[in-house]
Amino acid sequence: MKDFEKMYEVALANFNNAYAPYSKFRVGACVLLKNGEMIGGCNVENASYGLCICAERNALFQAVAKGIRKEDIVSLLVLTDTARPGSPCGACRQVMSELMDKDAKVYLTNLNKDVLVKTVEELLPYAFEESDLNV
Ligand code: THU
Repeated sequence: MKDFEKMYEVALANFNNAYAPYSKFRVGACVLLKNGEMIGGCNVENASYGLCICAERNALFQAVAKGIRKEDIVSLLVLTDTARPGSPCGACRQVMSELMDKDAKVYLTNLNKDVLVKTVEELLPYAFEESDLNV
């Protein structure tokens, strides 16, 4: 749970930096690496609504830009201001499935620190994946 507390702090700082002038719904995320490093992300919206990016995808894409790959990633935390722990959208589940191990943990939490822990595969069973393209 020590990891959770540190990840929560990073996600909260990112939550506070969220750019969400349209939905007013802020989200923070944190990727934990095997070397202990943490990479945060927030949602970033746009007047052209379809360009909005979710916090968890932002964090994972920043990790990739640093050269990080799935074998380096331990877990992901997603923080939302919701009554129940946040539920990642389908697009983010597909991106988690691409960039994280299937058994990597995803901590879903809220500002009350209610927590739900799921694996990537639990969030997206029977995912479309690389091997499906090799026909
Ligand atoms: N959003 C996230 O960042 N992550 C989620 O898990 C759910 C939705 C963002 C996208 C948009 O900026 C806002 O929340 C409302 O949908």
